[in-house]
Amino acid sequence: MGAGVIGLTTAVVLQRAGHHVQVIAAARGEGTTSAVAAALWYPFQANPPDRVNAWSRSSLDELTRIAREHPEAGVDVLTCREAAVDPALPWWAPSAPDLSLEPTPHPLGAPYSFRFTAPRIEPALYLPWLDAQLASPVRVERVVSLDAVEGDVVVNCTGLGARALTGDAELVGVYGQVAITEPGDISLDVALGDERNESALVYIIPRRREIVIGGCAVPSPDDRPLTPDPERTDAMLQRVRAAGLNPGNLLRSRAGLRPYRSAVRLEREGRVIHNYGHGGAGYTLAWGCAAEVSELMRAAPRDGGGATHRT
Ligand code: BEZ
Repeated sequence: MGAGVIGLTTAVVLQRAGHHVQVIAAARGEGTTSAVAAALWYPFQANPPDRVNAWSRSSLDELTRIAREHPEAGVDVLTCREAAVDPALPWWAPSAPDLSLEPTPHPLGAPYSFRFTAPRIEPALYLPWLDAQLASPVRVERVVSLDAVEGDVVVNCTGLGARALTGDAELVGVYGQVAITEPGDISLDVALGDERNESALVYIIPRRREIVIGGCAVPSPDDRPLTPDPERTDAMLQRVRAAGLNPGNLLRSRAGLRPYRSAVRLEREGRVIHNYGHGGAGYTLAWGCAAEVSELMRAAPRDGGGATHRT
């Protein structure tokens, strides 16, 4: 269930493991939250740290391999510089093998700066690339009950949609907005990030021919309009210019709701395997989580539908 990056990646992994897979989703491609993501590998707003680090590391390796072997997938490995208020290693350091403290302050004005390499994904290339690997095309259909879905096992990768399907009140939407610009004077080789202020995040993420500028993280109701707010776009561009950087013309703005949960829900409950609540880290966690779903496929469901998961 679900055709965002989590659903498609899980489907590809299960198909490779020999399962017959049918993806069913309310929306696909441009209609998904994954299509509007900045889509840089970076474990943003995802918990718990130990599981997130293991999933992130596994996805980093797989995305790096894809960047090397499948240029058509739209994945490239970039140098990233992340702002920090102190020199202590960030909580996600175990998943970034080449992370190092730089000898200079961060270009966005923070006193400290961490450097690492990470894959950046172009959703407009990558989602169709994943989709094309599926033996059966995605079936677009709105499902109102997991019980009604056919199959031996149902994998619930419905992102924010999981709240209606499971009644999970822990899942909340966190609004994000990005501006896509021409490169202007900005380097296409280095991504910059500064999450010291979550409601006024700053990131500058180069794609192959454009720059993604963000962002924000504002908890919001599910029915919040996803029409980008032009004042927020201006403020984001202003923050970047204030740091002395000069993006080119604004091409478009996009907005989405991250499916945030205090902990990613990846566990088996009878014939249902839940895989949702990845916050701002869907692309960062997808391959690692899909591998764990594949392991849970082998676990016998417990009588009475109780949950099983690894910790
Ligand atoms: C975001 O959710 O806005 C985001 C997450 C990871 C990297 C960049 C942006």
